[in-house]
Amino acid sequence: MDHLKSIKTPDSTIGFVPTMGALHQGHLSLMQQSLAENENTVVSVFVNPTQFNNPEDLSKYPRTLEADITKISELNTEIILYAPSVEDVYEGKILSQEFDFDGLENQMEGKFRPGHFNGVGTIVKRLFEIVNPTNAYFGEKDFQQLQIVKKMVKKNNMTVNVQGCAIYRESNGLAMSSRNERLSEQQKMDGALIYKTLNGAKEKFKTNSAKSVTEWVEKVFEKNTSFELEYFQIADETTLLPCLRKNKTKKYRAFIAVIVNNIRLIDTISLN
Ligand code: PAJ
Repeated sequence: MDHLKSIKTPDSTIGFVPTMGALHQGHLSLMQQSLAENENTVVSVFVNPTQFNNPEDLSKYPRTLEADITKISELNTEIILYAPSVEDVYEGKILSQEFDFDGLENQMEGKFRPGHFNGVGTIVKRLFEIVNPTNAYFGEKDFQQLQIVKKMVKKNNMTVNVQGCAIYRESNGLAMSSRNERLSEQQKMDGALIYKTLNGAKEKFKTNSAKSVTEWVEKVFEKNTSFELEYFQIADETTLLPCLRKNKTKKYRAFIAVIVNNIRLIDTISLN
C-alpha cells in the first residue's frame, strides 16, 4: 500500500470501495461512482471474520477472487485492488475493537447479529487507516452500516467523506447481494416478494401507523412458507429508533431481514 502514499498528492483524490468480494453489479455501481468522482479508485476484497456472528455464514460466504479480478479489470484497468489475507489484517489476533455508535448498533442488525457492528467498525477503521481515502462509497442496502460508518468517522474526527449509494436490484426487484449466489433460481424468483412487500409497506405507511404496517408485513410472511421473516421495522432514518408515533418532520425508512434456506437477506426502502 506504499503505492497509495505516492499517488495521493494534495490535489489528487482517492475513492475507496470496501467489499467482501463475490462482486456483483451493486458493487460495480459503487466503483463507477468512485471512478467518476476521484483520480484514483481503490477496491478492497476481504471477507472480514470478525463481523460474522454465525460460523456457517462465514464458512459458506462465497469467495471468488479470480472472477472478482476479472470483473474489476473489465470495468477499469486503473482500479487498485487490495485483497489482504486475514493474517495481514489481524496479525494473529482475530478480535474486534469495541465501539460506541450512540445506540445505532443496538437496533435491527445489531440485535440479531451480536458483535457484527464492532467487527464492521474494526475493519472499516483499519482499511481507512491503510487506504487513507478522500471519499468512501457504501451502499444504502446496508443502510444501518452506512449510518454506523458515518458515525464512526465523525466520532473519530476522520477526514474521509462517506457517501451513500443507491441500491442496485435484479430485474424482479430482489436487492443484489453476494449471498444471492447461494440461492436457487426458484428462490431468486421468489425473492421478489421482499421488495414487493417493502413497496406495499411504503404505500400503506402513507395512511397507516407503523404498527399496523408491521402487522400487515408479518401476515404476508406468515402466509409464505419458504421465507421466514426475521424482522421488519420502520425506523427514524437518523437515529434508527423504531417509529412509535409518526412525526411529519422526520424521515422514516423500512428495514427487513428474511431467512430462506439458512441464507439471510436484508433490504430497505425510504418511506417519505
Ligand atoms: P459487501 O456486502 O461486499 O458490500 C460492499 C459494499 O457494497 C457495501 O457498502 C454494500 O452496502 C454495497 N452493496 C452491496 N449490495 C449492494 C446493492 N445491491 N446495491 C448497492 N450497493 C450494494 O458491506 C460489506 O461488504 C462489508 O460489511 C464491508 C463494508 C466491506 C466491511 O467488511
